[in-house]
Amino acid sequence: MNKNMESYIVLKAQKLGLKKGKKEIFRDISLEIQRGKIYGIFGPNGCGKTSLLNIISGFEKPTTGCLFLYGHKINKYDPLHFKKYKNGITRSFQFPNVVDELKVCEHLLLPFRQQNEGFTSLICCKKKRQRNEISYQKKIKYVCSPFPFIKKKYQDKVSSLSFGEQRVLSILCTICSDTGILIFDEPFVNLDPMFATKLKTLLRTLSQNQSKTIVIVEPEINKQEDFFDKVVEFSSGTSE
Ligand SMILES: Nc1ncnc2c1ncn2[C@@H]1O[C@H](COP(=O)(O)OP(=O)(O)OP(=O)(O)O)[C@@H](O)[C@H]1O
Ligand SMILES: [Mg+2]
Repeated sequence: MNKNMESYIVLKAQKLGLKKGKKEIFRDISLEIQRGKIYGIFGPNGCGKTSLLNIISGFEKPTTGCLFLYGHKINKYDPLHFKKYKNGITRSFQFPNVVDELKVCEHLLLPFRQQNEGFTSLICCKKKRQRNEISYQKKIKYVCSPFPFIKKKYQDKVSSLSFGEQRVLSILCTICSDTGILIFDEPFVNLDPMFATKLKTLLRTLSQNQSKTIVIVEPEINKQEDFFDKVVEFSSGTSE
């Protein structure tokens, strides 16, 4: 593969293996994820999809194999360390990962606060920060516009949302983050078909217009559907 092509591979997994205690969860998983594409990884319950996402988002260390992010070999599995590489990766979890006590509008601001905390806030002057916040607010408006319940419940506590609404909110927060790679753990499961269609349209637009790279795991994928650019089957602990 030539060097130009390599630069488009934003994430590369080489023979990843994972053991928990004496149990082998999977072995020899290799993947190449290209920039701006939508990947679907599917496989049955318990095959190790979430464990794989944990590794490629820095939450868990593989037992064997290597991971490369934008061509850099990863030696520290920590989501904060991953931020070193083009802002890293944002992922959503299988269950809504939300802060109950916040209002919906405050929750949507969390990715912005995280991106602008610490050193960044010190070097960023107040005016620039305000400008950034205004453009972030525009992003929230755009990302949330297909989901009217967000506007309706903007000032409500997250705890008052239904389970499905909380899932959508946590997915939208992932989308609002500034990272080039977005990873979703079963985003469409239990989502009503209209929300699922709107979410797919939004993700497709982000991949086409902003070259966002999107990795989605699902227990089942309709191979006839043209939403995914590439579908990878993950069964019996090895990708096929
Ligand atoms: N701490 C642990 N110790 C031992 N085995 C574990 C541990 N955590 C997970 N496992 C096992 O690892 C396997 C893979 O789990 P994982 O959650 O990654 O699967 P999954 O494909 O995401 O499943 P699902 O579709 O149900 O979400 C399962 O068989 C699970 O029992
Ligand atoms: Mg899972």
